[in-house]
Amino acid sequence: MKNLVILISGRGSNMEAIVRACANEAWPARIAAVIANRPDAAGLAFAASHGIATGVVDHRQYPDRASFDTALAQAIDNHAPDLVVLAGFMRVLTEGFVQRYSGRMLNIHPSLLPSFPGLKTHEKAIEAGCRVHGATVHFVTPTLDHGPIVMQSAVPVRTGDDAAALAARVLATEHVIYPRAVRWFVEGRLALDGERVTLTPPEAQWLFVDEASVEENAKTGAQAVKAGASTHAGEGA
Ligand code: GRF
Repeated sequence: MKNLVILISGRGSNMEAIVRACANEAWPARIAAVIANRPDAAGLAFAASHGIATGVVDHRQYPDRASFDTALAQAIDNHAPDLVVLAGFMRVLTEGFVQRYSGRMLNIHPSLLPSFPGLKTHEKAIEAGCRVHGATVHFVTPTLDHGPIVMQSAVPVRTGDDAAALAARVLATEHVIYPRAVRWFVEGRLALDGERVTLTPPEAQWLFVDEASVEENAKTGAQAVKAGASTHAGEGA
């Protein structure tokens, strides 16, 4: 059994997708704890109601990043994690913290990295005139929103999209790719080869959501994406 610790800052919908997949697919893993940097993070209630230990390390109680990161690492290490999962965790982490969990910390970022690191990714994609946008699951390295890519999802950008519409389209795919990537880690199938990630045995490391799926999702919600109804996935490259 692998121990997972999930860090959140707010809503926690990616955390929720991982918790559900872990249970439904009987991963050889347990969610040891969900830790937030804000006491009002909505996702804490979901975790607690599923019998998961929760914790808060409030960044506002610490004078600087280093002392916050030290306290956060202590809270994490109490649960002896094999993997730390950043799921909408909105704090920039110090290099020391990142090194401590090197090769065992994943993040999801709502863009097709290396495009659009940082905040407001959906606005930036629309402003740049992108026709395709998406999300990336990656190992965390000291450079913000950078690191070996485990899986990516791509969705169309439609004429007239605003940031909220595009964010919702991307988020539905996040709930597919993040649990999948975490599961691969738990199963010991991921290896790092410099900047690249290899998956053994190979499997789709990308998810494409085409126009037909978008139409379907508009009618039925994210479930169509989750079920892979008319999405396309395949081996990378
Ligand atoms: C997601 O879009 C994630 O990619 C980004 O922040 C958002 C978090 O949403 N890092 P949630 O808290 O998982 O619902």
